[in-house]
Amino acid sequence: MAESHTPSLPSPLAREDATGLLAGRRILLGVTGGIAAYKACELVRLLRAEGARVQAVMTRAAREFLGPASLQALTGSPVYDDLWDARVADGMAHIALSRDADAIVVAPATADFLGKIANGLCDDLLSTLVLARRNARCALLLAPAMNVEMWTQPAVQRNVAQLRADGAQLLGPASGEQACGETGVGRMLEPAAILEEIIAAFQPKVLQGRRVLVTAGPTYEAIDPVRGITNRSSGKMGYAVARAAREAGATVTLVSGPTGRAAPHGVHRIDVRSAEEMRTAVLGAAGDTDVFVAVAAVADWRPEVAAPRKIKKAAGAPPPLALVANPDILAEVARLAEPPLCVGFAAETEDVIDHARAKLQAKRLAMVIANAAQDAIGADESELAIVDETRIRALPRAPKLEQARRIIAAIAERLAPPAA
Ligand SMILES: Cc1cc2nc3c(=O)[nH]c(=O)nc-3n(C[C@H](O)[C@H](O)[C@H](O)COP(=O)(O)O)c2cc1C
Repeated sequence: MAESHTPSLPSPLAREDATGLLAGRRILLGVTGGIAAYKACELVRLLRAEGARVQAVMTRAAREFLGPASLQALTGSPVYDDLWDARVADGMAHIALSRDADAIVVAPATADFLGKIANGLCDDLLSTLVLARRNARCALLLAPAMNVEMWTQPAVQRNVAQLRADGAQLLGPASGEQACGETGVGRMLEPAAILEEIIAAFQPKVLQGRRVLVTAGPTYEAIDPVRGITNRSSGKMGYAVARAAREAGATVTLVSGPTGRAAPHGVHRIDVRSAEEMRTAVLGAAGDTDVFVAVAAVADWRPEVAAPRKIKKAAGAPPPLALVANPDILAEVARLAEPPLCVGFAAETEDVIDHARAKLQAKRLAMVIANAAQDAIGADESELAIVDETRIRALPRAPKLEQARRIIAAIAERLAPPAA
């Protein structure tokens, strides 16, 4: 943790009672002179909603794009932009501000700014406090934003490579339409994605270098083109597991049934509908994965035939619905010649632990996460138990992302260290 506040600097509004994924974290947000500077306001709002305290520092050029009053109002703290600020009692804002931060996030980061800090230059407040930070205590996250031609210049790419080698984390940039009207790589990541990256930066990288495959959501088994069999799985838990694995440093593929949810940032999602489609996608990816976490609520049965046209409503008895069993995707992956570490979920309405144990043994899994179906489906929180051959670990009720992080920690414990 960083040291306590230097009394000579007014600190951002105290949020001792804050809750959220960044509660108690102190973020120094640097804003440099690019068009994307306006998005810094939204980023501050998101950071504060997650409980972070935010101190903004702008470059001179940033002030051409965004008035400091907006950032001051949103952070609840005066904005600093001057190395020679006479308001700071000891005259050393660059030391005080950098000591006070758990992370420095520069969004947007201009080509100019990246060049300066890649070379250890510090001719203004923001670059000086980046240089003055204590690396071990204060992560540096940079969200570049610039025209595609600027981004692809060898000089900029050299600077980016140097910054990565020096331990900075580059967030994006994304590809797409640019403010100048051109299209390509160089757009700043959206504030919501930057927020996810900041939250991830505080998580231990226990799955660094690992590949993780996750399934999530329900499947949908067609009866005819407009009707089908599905279930109430929301995908929340599976998406949380995918996010937690990514936070832990893994490369994550998420095979998702229809949920309508946005994929966690940085996770490769494959959308499927039926159990058969999910099976194909999973088997296509399973050979290349270290861990498989099967969270999806795969329909056990599907109609034997999906009618090619809508079945007409007719008087008399409803049409018969013959069902056949769907493939057991998890069992199939666990039976591969060189299976990944396999983790299942057991959502049952009664005898949850017994069912979890039976599943663990029948499918020869590394662990099964047991939960009460009626409590967990669609909810934001859950109460779980991790069941393996030797013990049962209860995970008391908590938000699903927190539960997912605990599951990821347990998985990391089971894995041998990755090959060098
Ligand atoms: C209208 C306008 C838009 C600009 N947009 C960007 C941009 O998106 N990214 C960038 O790297 N530079 C951009 N620049 C150039 C920077 O503002 C310029 O390099 C400045 O010196 C950056 O200063 P700073 O790094 O201290 O903030 C833009 C300049 C102008 C006039």
